[in-house]
Amino acid sequence: MQRIVSTIRTGDGSHTLAWGDEHYHSLHGAVAESTHVFIKAGLDAAGLKHIDLLEVGLGTGLNLLLTWVRCLEGKVSVDYTALEPHPITAEVLERLRHCEDLAWPGLHGPFLERMSSPSEDWHEAIGGLRFRKLPTRVQEFNETSAFDVIFFDAFAPRHQPEMWALEVFKRMHDALRPCGLLVTYCAKGEVRRTMQSAGFSVERLTGPPGKREMLRARKS
Ligand SMILES: C[S@@+](CC[C@H](N)C(=O)[O-])C[C@H]1O[C@@H](n2cnc3c(N)ncnc32)[C@H](O)[C@@H]1O
Repeated sequence: MQRIVSTIRTGDGSHTLAWGDEHYHSLHGAVAESTHVFIKAGLDAAGLKHIDLLEVGLGTGLNLLLTWVRCLEGKVSVDYTALEPHPITAEVLERLRHCEDLAWPGLHGPFLERMSSPSEDWHEAIGGLRFRKLPTRVQEFNETSAFDVIFFDAFAPRHQPEMWALEVFKRMHDALRPCGLLVTYCAKGEVRRTMQSAGFSVERLTGPPGKREMLRARKS
């Protein structure tokens, strides 16, 4: 997976990366999309005081930071496991300025340290969030009934169809506890039907700015 990355300012003023002709976030607004899809429809909707969370595709770490801010606000505590086989360099993360965009400059040091660390162990908890990053591909991830929420943030099906396969959603279904939620920005009918075949009940929700719909899947 060759990386030619450049930094782009999105519609809400926050920043993202381009990967060829694909982007890590919506160009209508990176923070707006992440907040709408992952934080509000996933983290907040779970309604739990403590959440074991899995992110598929850590990328620039924006979902991690937004979750961390929720924890620092005292709303929830989170054990955050992120899968990322192609981590972004510290130099590119510096350029992105996510912590400045979110007005949490104090997180910059601990964020960069965690994002750049080669360790697969849990890092010390700060502000109610414990983090670990695994280089595992989702296609090889094996956990059973370990998570309450999954942020499924893969590149779009037209760019990485193998991420949206039945085999992957079966793994995600296994990884969730009963009543666990999987959220994604993608609203394609084919993806919804694949999730249903994996055993999920799937809702179509209003999408973030620039997108009509998104999907939320629940394990019954
Ligand atoms: C849309 S980006 C994620 C955006 C990210 N959540 C953020 O906030 O910046 C998709 C990510 O999936 C990662 N990825 C690619 N193949 C993967 C795989 N087989 N398993 C898990 N993640 C993968 C890519 O490296 C990329 O960082």
